[in-house]
Amino acid sequence: MMDVQSIRQDFPVYQKQPKLTYLDSAASSLKVKSVIDQVDHYYHTLGVNVHRGAYDLAYEATRLYEEARSTVASFIGAETDEIIFTRGTTSSLNMIAYAYREILKPGDEIITSELEHHSSLLPWMITAQKTGAILKYVPLSKEGRITIEGFRSILSLNTKVVALTHVSNVMGYLTPIEEITRLAHQQGAVVVLDAAQSVPHMSVNITNLAVDFLAFSGHKMFGPSGVGVLYGKKHLLNQLEPFEYGGEMADQVDLTQATWKEAPLRFEAGTPVISGAIGLAEAIRYIQKIGFKAIHEHTHELHQYTLKKLREIDGITVYNSTAENPVIAFNVDNIHPHDIATMLDQYQVSVRAGHHCAQLVTKFLGVNSTLRASFHIYNSKEDCDAFVHSIQAAKDFFQQF
Ligand SMILES: Cc1ncc(COP(=O)(O)O)c(C=O)c1O
Repeated sequence: MMDVQSIRQDFPVYQKQPKLTYLDSAASSLKVKSVIDQVDHYYHTLGVNVHRGAYDLAYEATRLYEEARSTVASFIGAETDEIIFTRGTTSSLNMIAYAYREILKPGDEIITSELEHHSSLLPWMITAQKTGAILKYVPLSKEGRITIEGFRSILSLNTKVVALTHVSNVMGYLTPIEEITRLAHQQGAVVVLDAAQSVPHMSVNITNLAVDFLAFSGHKMFGPSGVGVLYGKKHLLNQLEPFEYGGEMADQVDLTQATWKEAPLRFEAGTPVISGAIGLAEAIRYIQKIGFKAIHEHTHELHQYTLKKLREIDGITVYNSTAENPVIAFNVDNIHPHDIATMLDQYQVSVRAGHHCAQLVTKFLGVNSTLRASFHIYNSKEDCDAFVHSIQAAKDFFQQF
């Protein structure tokens, strides 16, 4: 097991909240001190814009910002100019879906799934409505997984876009995306991957995945909120219409028309998220220092340990006991998830209750909402015990009525 006490020294929130049992990292991870320090360093010592000024501070800010781009690129095995800094996964995915409004024709097909977070589903739903394209859903397995067979059954020559989640934020299932991408490419479709839940937990490499576009957020991987990444293959990015127009993205501007720079600047109109990008690069360095192998071994052990303990309590339904990511989706029989979550908070146990911005998943499960406990490197076995104990206590409390 990881030395959790020493890891917690890196997360200042524990100094203020030593008794915190934080099990909501799938929503947002806690933040690392060195990330906060990097963001602070930018504001304390620089604070100026990038790409524009011909003075030392601007050169230094630009250097740090572009270095952050290279750090992200090598983290996922991409080229530097294939990395666009955005506001987060939501804005990255919206940018691509919006650009495809110019490309898709009536009758073209977009393949998605009921496992999607709304930020992957809704942009494509609206793009389908605007273009007359058809939204098709991969039939999920009984367990609720995206499978290659399910995908094959709806893939056709009309498929132009495949927009799928890499790991479901509710179920924690890993999509077999390499094979799906290979099949999609045979039909000439592009693959847009929502990697918001995978990048914080596993090595995600573009060379292996071969997807065309990929999105993730800083705040789920110990980085700042308000920054995310859109990866796109260079030749595809440069064919797409920009999502926003403004400063630093234009090449030549005349009275009636303008031309655009190539990616990434083509998609970074206006002043970018400078401090966020610098903070995200530090979060990546922190993850690399710990290593995905250690992250996986630690969180996997906590995950399995908690599942085993939960099985010892009657009346708990776990919906995803085979999940690859350390996420437990569950309900307590006859007690509303929000009541349980509120009660757990009395024990300083933070979990999420609701539909997790993925209403089609809860519909698939046949419920209105679920509870979700998710783990990361700062969690300990004591956290798992505190969680299970508080579930039992909440259950005992509500069963009196
Ligand atoms: C799978 C998945 N996709 C997309 C998002 C949206 O990320 P953000 O809110 O950072 O844009 C989330 C966040 O919960 C997610 O879990």
